[in-house]
Amino acid sequence: MQTNLHGRDLIGDLDFTKEEVETVLDVAWDLKRKRALNEPHAYLRDKVLAMLFFFSSTRTRGSFEAGMAQLGGHAAFIESKTTQIAHGDTEKEIGDIFGRYFDGIAIRHVDWGTGNRYLNLVAEASRVPVLNMQCEIYHPFQCLADLMTIMEKKGRDLRKKKIVVSWAYAASYSKPISVPQSLILQMPRFGLDVTLSHPPEFALMPEIMEQAQAQAKKYGTNFEVVHDMDEGFKDADIVYAKSWGPLVYTADPEKGAEITKKYSGWITNEKRMELAREDAIYMHPLPADRNIEVTDGVIDGAHSVVFDEAENRLHAQKAVMALTMG
Ligand code: CP
Repeated sequence: MQTNLHGRDLIGDLDFTKEEVETVLDVAWDLKRKRALNEPHAYLRDKVLAMLFFFSSTRTRGSFEAGMAQLGGHAAFIESKTTQIAHGDTEKEIGDIFGRYFDGIAIRHVDWGTGNRYLNLVAEASRVPVLNMQCEIYHPFQCLADLMTIMEKKGRDLRKKKIVVSWAYAASYSKPISVPQSLILQMPRFGLDVTLSHPPEFALMPEIMEQAQAQAKKYGTNFEVVHDMDEGFKDADIVYAKSWGPLVYTADPEKGAEITKKYSGWITNEKRMELAREDAIYMHPLPADRNIEVTDGVIDGAHSVVFDEAENRLHAQKAVMALTMG
């Protein structure tokens, strides 16, 4: 167990070592148990987290805000559009000034080519931890909650188990690629064999692919890429199928929408789930485009663990906040 996470940032999934992630999970389960038993756990009494949002959120906002209150502190909800950022507040000013007011700075900024850089510049100027509530490259807290959920359902020894991280069609908007990127980086460290499945135009960032392949090699797990949804689902223990934009291929939204339309058949439905193992779990970070990305029958069905997955955001985030901000 690694106990020296005080003051650390969490921006990329590999910022914490495997052993540090194991510590986060242990603390998360302890906090989950304490909440279930109504045991007080005010490890962050009088501490305040700034939550700076450049993009909308349901789960992330709710779970960080509830988590800080349950830890005895407070979370300040700040939308970028109601700040002076558009009028000139720089990353350095936000990092330095918020670092003097707050005990942690959590940021969601998913703009392509901008968000991750913003977080890192704030972190450079800040004296307190910077926590990534999702950028265009990573969604580390979602991934921690996902790992926690997978271990709850499939056990802590995940060797020889297959996760398919699959693209799925959605019509609502061009979703970030951060969730699949975080998954392919983190899951090999915990023994899962990863199959990444997507149409050719929906490739992930080459540098992230290289890092994911290096993690798989280091931990002796399989990592493969297929371009067929059925092939990806075959014999999977964990089906993680969601939409993302063709952002590496084109940053032009109109061109991206045209490409996306070609693949409207990439839906998670009951027939496809039958290709996976009988006891496979279905995961999605939400929000999902119901009956476009996934059928009601699957997302509300026996394989689905999406509500446990969403709940675990709370416990995983509380663990990281208690360890880094305490
Ligand atoms: N999964 C997730 O990050 O949800 P929100 O966008 O609602 O925060």
